[in-house]
Amino acid sequence: TETRQRVADVVDAFKGQDGALLLILHGIQDEFGYVPDETVPVVADALNLSRADVHGVITFYHDYRKHPAGRHVLKICRAEACQAMGGEAMVERAMELLGLNFHETSSDNAVTLEPVFCLGLCACAPAAMLDGQLIGRLDEDKLREIVTEVRA
Ligand code: FES
Repeated sequence: TETRQRVADVVDAFKGQDGALLLILHGIQDEFGYVPDETVPVVADALNLSRADVHGVITFYHDYRKHPAGRHVLKICRAEACQAMGGEAMVERAMELLGLNFHETSSDNAVTLEPVFCLGLCACAPAAMLDGQLIGRLDEDKLREIVTEVRA
């Protein structure tokens, strides 16, 4: 299939390099927007790993999506500096407002909520990122604006 060919191309590009598994998974996510289930056996075979090994890595690293993302992606930082500035309360608020847990996408496909571990914006904690744009000093008002925007 076409999917297999695209996966094979990514595998070929990184196979044999240090950290090939992570590079390949990133490459697949760049290519498809997520790591489709059917790519797992292809990657496992190519690297002589078990499917369980590959699944384990996909699950362990928070960067990999197992499903396509919504039209908008909201990432909220869960690393230390943000936690110290009330980031977890913002996480809970975002979950309430969106009706989503991490790694979930709204049923209208509008938005996906994801955790992230440091956005390099610690000085403006708590931090978030909407569609690649950094948002510092996240508070309830900003969250409400974000929710309105992604629902528009
Ligand atoms: Fe959240 Fe660095 S800890 S941006």
